[in-house]
Amino acid sequence: MRVSLLDIAQRYARGERLTMVTAYDYTSARIIDRTDIPLILVGDSLGMVIQGRDSTLPVTVDDILYHTRAVLRGCTKALVVSDLPFLTYATQESALASAGRLMAEGGCQSVKLEGGVTVAPTIRRLVDAGIPVMGHLGFTPQSMHQIGVRVQGKDANRARQLLADAFAVQEAGAWAVVLELIPAPLAEAITQRLSIPTIGIGAGPACSGEVQVWHDILGLYEDHTPRHTHRFASLGDQAATALQEYADQVGSQRFPTAAHSARMDEQVLAEALQGFAPPRSRSTEDPEVPPS
Ligand code: KIV
Repeated sequence: MRVSLLDIAQRYARGERLTMVTAYDYTSARIIDRTDIPLILVGDSLGMVIQGRDSTLPVTVDDILYHTRAVLRGCTKALVVSDLPFLTYATQESALASAGRLMAEGGCQSVKLEGGVTVAPTIRRLVDAGIPVMGHLGFTPQSMHQIGVRVQGKDANRARQLLADAFAVQEAGAWAVVLELIPAPLAEAITQRLSIPTIGIGAGPACSGEVQVWHDILGLYEDHTPRHTHRFASLGDQAATALQEYADQVGSQRFPTAAHSARMDEQVLAEALQGFAPPRSRSTEDPEVPPS
């Protein structure tokens, strides 16, 4: 049975830590289904890790929709949250249209959007329409050109603003809020004051839960381990080693072997070959082979 928002609220009330991980495709979702991770985020980080772009800004609702559907086909247990992309919730009407598509056509159980006091009325509008919303504060990647890619809320004014944003998101009806790249003591102070779960990423250990990007925690890149993450495996290295071994074995004719394919009765083959030319010679002395 799929985890519901009520389950999440009960886990939170019991003080259980909430784990969330991003996923973008069917296979990853199937792997997550083998764990007890209750929350999946189809994040607009797919702009970087799937599409190879340098920010989340070009991601569209159609992109998130495509990946949300693929994830939903692979997972039966986790609650799936899909990101509302840049400028798709700039007005309440566009927010309703975008979120409605992700829920109705994509099948996710909640959407996530970035911002605090200024987007609170939009959150309220979505929640009133029956669309569960997760907030996202601190470093909000869709505003990277305004706020810079750095830890947010380090001075008293900005920390106060973040607290006000967190309360606004909660009052507007969000069921949880992501806190990204904010100082750990500030994340702890917010977590202690809110009555909805805080899900941290680069926000220290005191949040109600944690969200991480699939590619970061599984070590898919050889050159990139941001401070806020940890490699729990080195799958990129393992994949590169395996692929090179595959190439070596194909090149040296160790793979595939007869064991990797079907047999055929010799007489049946001989019958099938009747009337065809004999095998070509593969010798380099064969005049048909052009000189290299
Ligand atoms: O898009 C994403 O992956 C996110 C997480 C980093 C929270 O928003």
